[in-house]
Order: sequence, then C-alpha cells, then structure tokens
Amino acid sequence: MIYLDNAATSFPKPEPVYQELDRFARTSLANPGRAGHRMAMAAEKTLDDVRHALNQFFRGESPDRWAFTLNCTDALNMAIKGVLRDGDHVVLTDLEHNSISRPIRALEKAGRITSTRVVSREGYVTAEDVAAAITPKTRLVAMTHASNVLGTVQPIEDVAKAVRAADALLLIDAAQSAGVVPIDLKETPIDLLALPGHKGLYGPTGTGTLYLGPRVDGRVNAWREGGTGGDSSSETQPDLRPYFYEAGSPNVLGVAGLGKGIAWVAERGVEALRKHEVELLQQVVDWAEHADGWRVAGLWDPERHAGALSLFTPEGISPQELAGILDVSFDIAVRPGLHCAPYIHRNLGSFPDGLLRLSPSPFTSHDDIRQFLDALSEITAGVV
Ligand SMILES: Cc1ncc(COP(=O)(O)O)c(C=O)c1O
Repeated sequence: MIYLDNAATSFPKPEPVYQELDRFARTSLANPGRAGHRMAMAAEKTLDDVRHALNQFFRGESPDRWAFTLNCTDALNMAIKGVLRDGDHVVLTDLEHNSISRPIRALEKAGRITSTRVVSREGYVTAEDVAAAITPKTRLVAMTHASNVLGTVQPIEDVAKAVRAADALLLIDAAQSAGVVPIDLKETPIDLLALPGHKGLYGPTGTGTLYLGPRVDGRVNAWREGGTGGDSSSETQPDLRPYFYEAGSPNVLGVAGLGKGIAWVAERGVEALRKHEVELLQQVVDWAEHADGWRVAGLWDPERHAGALSLFTPEGISPQELAGILDVSFDIAVRPGLHCAPYIHRNLGSFPDGLLRLSPSPFTSHDDIRQFLDALSEITAGVV
C-alpha cells in the first residue's frame, strides 16, 4: 500500500520503534509506580526518560511539566476544560480541528463561556487578527499550529507575543507540527502545548502529551482523578506534577515506543523531515497546475507548510468516490471529506463534500507520489 494518511497517524513507524515495543512488552511491561518493585520502578523511569526527551526536544522548562495523555484530543480537552472558568472568553480560529472546536462550543452552549472565531485567508490567520479578537475577558487563545486540512503553518511566534501582551493564556494544538515544524518553548511563550505521540513523533497510537508552562501553575484543574502510583493516603489528587494530571495506569508501552520515535526525529532533524515532505507536496502542486479540474486548496507557500495538502476534485467526481477507488483499485490510502475541521471547509467553499487530502511522511518517495498522480489522472480521464 502507498500510505498517504500520515496526518491521521503515521505509518510505518521507524524500525527502532517496533523493536522497542517488542522488547519492552516482553521484558518491562509492569505498571509504573514510584513506591513499587524494581520492574515497576524501571517502568516509571521509562516515563521519566521520555519526559526528559520531550523537554529537551521542545526546550521546555522542566520534564515534570509534560503530562502523558491518550492522544492530542485528550491533551486539548485537559487544557480547555482545566483552564476555563465561568464567564471567560476564548479566541480560536476557523482552522481548528473539532478537538478544539467541540469542547469550546459545548461550554458555550451551556452558557458558561463566550468565544470569537478568527477567520483565516487562504489558510493563514494573522497575529493582528488574533490580537484584535482579544477582549478583557479573554482567558485563553486556543489555536492550531498547522492546519490538518491545508498544511499551512500559522505565525504562532507573533501570536504568542500578542497573547502575552494581553495577559491571556496560549494553547497551541501541535497535532500536525510536532516533529515536522520547529517549536522552541524558550523562544516562543506557549503556556499549553498539546501534541500527539503517534503522528510526526512516530510513537504508537494511544500516546500524547500536554506541556503545562509556569504561567498555568495552579490554574489547570485535574482532568481525571484516581490512583497516581504514590501518595495513596491523600484524600484528593496529590498536587505533585505531573502525577496530578495522570491518574490511572499509563500507556507505558506506548511511551517507550514514543521515546524511540523522538530520538529518530531528533537524529534526522525536524527541518530536514519537513523539507522532504514539502518537496513531495511540491510535486503534487506542479501536477495540479496543469491537470484539468484540479486545484490546490489554500495558498501554497513551501516555507510555511507542513506535511498535508488538500485538493479540490474535478466536477462530477467527489473526494469520497476518488478515495474509494484509490483504495480499492490502486492500494493508495488518502483521506477525503471534512477532516474533522468543518469551519475551514465552509471558508474555502468545500463544505459539505470536503476535499481530497494527502499527507506523506519521511518514508514516502517521489515514485509513490508519481503513482498517486498517475492514478488520479487515470481515474478522472473519463470525467474531465
Ligand atoms: C489539528 C489536529 N488537532 C487535533 C487532532 C486530534 O489528534 P488525536 O488524533 O491525537 O486525538 C488532530 C488529528 O488529526 C489534528 O489534525
């Protein structure tokens, strides 16, 4: 199969990730616990090592600020529901995935908060527009770093400055940028950074993390409450970071694999990986310029692009039909539809059918893209 759905989850994973999952499952899969036996303590050390790796990779304040989650959705819910209070105002954008849009809309429908959605142009929002949407009641600005529909990378460095100047908090959804676009927490004042382990960091599904910066200390409620592997006599959730946010048995096997994924990305370099993906997408952009009925969605700017791209399909053949034929007849996996991000499709005029999205990875070759484009030409030959 030619797998072009890495924006959903990356496949394949690097070889060291598979090896570690196998090794860890056979030798080390105890339940982490600070007060436990040697094997439990070794499992706990794996969690700590990966927290260190995350902290080094993104240049955070300290390893204990990284709470492990099930995925990016879990991390975003933890941040949004943990930080917002009745009467607050939130700023978001029309590029958001439903994992930001839905929790915020639900709070809004319950009459607890209000929100303003900044409108993007050709796939980009500006820091000026975000700043203009901030009011004295704005507690949180929640936005994606890279659009999962268009791949466009947002100016979060400038947004961060504007949010800090307004004394609000910034939550960045790095689902499509972690491991693909550099993020430096020392340079960019992000208060809450949510990311999946299973996309551009090449861990398995079931992994994610939320970084909680110093400005949110004491301001984020516990997302779940329960056992933390220590301090069992405490009647309520122990205050200690990161355990305060991590009740229940963690996915230590997944985290062990994630550690190898982070090391693999760090060795290659984020910018080199992004460059490869953008070169593959450039091949598609060049093809679309000359292909009847096809059009790239959003502004194509290779310097400000992550590893996803969406196409308007020719009249008479829907993204869903195309993706079905690609799967069944050509063994090629892509993602049609709204990509859990309906607001940007309304903006682009592609609602409700959506677009055809491809998202390559470091394991995708130019020949894979050639085969994908030849398949598109063949399928639509009779239509356009
Ligand atoms: C921009 C964006 N945010 C959040 C998510 C949710 O991530 P997860 O699948 O890890 O829950 C996705 C998933 O594709 C995404 O693209």
